[in-house]
Amino acid sequence: MITHKITLIPGDGIGPEVIRATVRILEATGVKFEWESFAAGAEAFEKYKEYIPRELSESIERTRVGLKGPVTTPIGGGFSSINVELRRRFELFANFRPIRNLPHIPTRYPGVDLIVVRENTEGLYSGIEHEVVPGVVESLKIITEKASTRISRFAFEHARNNKRKKIHSIHKANIMKLSDGLFLRCSRTVSKEYPEITYGEHIVDNTCMQLVMNPYQYDILLLENLYGDIISDLCAGLVGGLGLVPGANFGHECAIFEAVHGSAPDIAGKNIANPTAVLRSALLMLRHLGEHDAALKIRNAIDEVYRDRSKLTRDVGGTAGTSEFADAIIQAMESQSSAGAGTERLLQ
Ligand code: NAI
Repeated sequence: MITHKITLIPGDGIGPEVIRATVRILEATGVKFEWESFAAGAEAFEKYKEYIPRELSESIERTRVGLKGPVTTPIGGGFSSINVELRRRFELFANFRPIRNLPHIPTRYPGVDLIVVRENTEGLYSGIEHEVVPGVVESLKIITEKASTRISRFAFEHARNNKRKKIHSIHKANIMKLSDGLFLRCSRTVSKEYPEITYGEHIVDNTCMQLVMNPYQYDILLLENLYGDIISDLCAGLVGGLGLVPGANFGHECAIFEAVHGSAPDIAGKNIANPTAVLRSALLMLRHLGEHDAALKIRNAIDEVYRDRSKLTRDVGGTAGTSEFADAIIQAMESQSSAGAGTERLLQ
């Protein structure tokens, strides 16, 4: 049996709690992992005088796969986002966020199934800003043909390989004619190579309204960095909240799996955060590693625990703690194996 070496970044805020719960569940699948665990952000700076310690970077270069909890970014000053820097440093250009309802969580729209594909390395997140004169600040939005074509190709390839039907490129090219205009031109050019996939374009403000009124009209949303960030949280709200929505950052060389949500300081350290989003990110990781049976086992256990409802966390209407939820998932996996849940159920 292969042992998978994974770089683990527990993060801060609720990060260590939801990562601990997820690691316990992953280990209960029987798949073998060797975790290389590192601090990042403010905690790492205290220990190593670096926000991203050299050891962490070397570990990712070696393992090529990371599982990451959220890392707090100070607001309006302080150090730059560690999350943005990791994505840039390892050229994790594609942020992939599947937005799907979990069964048994009541939401306004049942059966939502769309994917947010967000460009991860440039746009306004290039972090190039300066004070021109006191009272006047300039932030540069960088859009390149290379990165826009690369993310468009990622979205179209995903659509082709997974039989998805439609891609909408989301923009504000009516106002940002050059930058968003270039992004749009690149998506249009790439779209011509995929005639079987319907291609559309929507302006980002209209997209927000359309998503809230009728999310079913979308299949894959292709967005530059900032719009992707904002639309992801809107989409999380459609399917039950940030505690549920997973994500992955893909590059050509490596991948880091992390939830859409942040470090949630308002609920940190109370054992009440929902680990489902990180757990579903870990499912994406298991599939990336080729561990499909383990992924199905966890997915079935998630379905079971959400159907039963007695061990859900507060954000989805329950009263259980983070660790109790994890215990329930592990128990559901064990009863699946002892009841011989079998391939039929797993293949559903
Ligand atoms: P947030 O996502 O941390 O929290 C927003 C709201 O959702 C809060 O009410 C929080 O309690 C709730 N929430 C989030 N995750 C939850 C979970 N798993 N279970 C239950 N409730 C959950 O967003 P916020 O407050 O804007 O950001 C806090 C910090 O996180 C900031 O420093 C931000 O920069 C950072 N951040 C980090 C990210 C990352 O590491 N990838 C992503 C987004 C934000």
